[in-house]
Amino acid sequence: MKTIKNKTNIALIGFMGSGKSSVGKKLAAELNKNFVEVDDLITAHKGIPITQIFAEEGEISFRELEIEFVKKVAQQKNQVIVTGGGTVLNKINIDRLRQSSAVVYLTASPRIILQRVCNDTTRPLLNTEGQFERIKELLAFRKPYYERAADITVKTSRLKIDTIVARIIIRLREDERFNQ
Ligand code: S3P
Repeated sequence: MKTIKNKTNIALIGFMGSGKSSVGKKLAAELNKNFVEVDDLITAHKGIPITQIFAEEGEISFRELEIEFVKKVAQQKNQVIVTGGGTVLNKINIDRLRQSSAVVYLTASPRIILQRVCNDTTRPLLNTEGQFERIKELLAFRKPYYERAADITVKTSRLKIDTIVARIIIRLREDERFNQ
């Protein structure tokens, strides 16, 4: 039987703008693990950006690709896996990630998220008027999904990348369930 010590991946979950990509790159370098971002695999596979996938094929099509690529990465070992903000919405993704990964949830306040994403047009779900309201609404809906999926939660709002990475490493090391 697979024990929890066999989990050699770390999967980062959290809302858009919670710092998953920047933290993930640094965390992977620190722990000498491969860095993989599910959104990058999807865009490389399709050859078009995520905004275009949403516009031309719709969100359902994107979510299907997300399920396919989460399945692939969850089968590999020794990686830091950066998920998209909506990955947690499909339970199958979390079930698959949990088989091989410690799941780390990065939180950020709506105001900080707004600051981080307001000049970015690459996120189709936030390309709208009333961005702050949209963030608050989506976050309120998704919060329970993130919380249910998380093994470890780290607040990012007022912290530098290095501090967040250090905290994740400490939390994983002191957690008997993981063997990082
Ligand atoms: C999404 C988040 C995005 C990307 C897509 C959908 C979401 O990833 O997967 O635009 O539903 O929250 P980031 O969290 O990296 O921005």
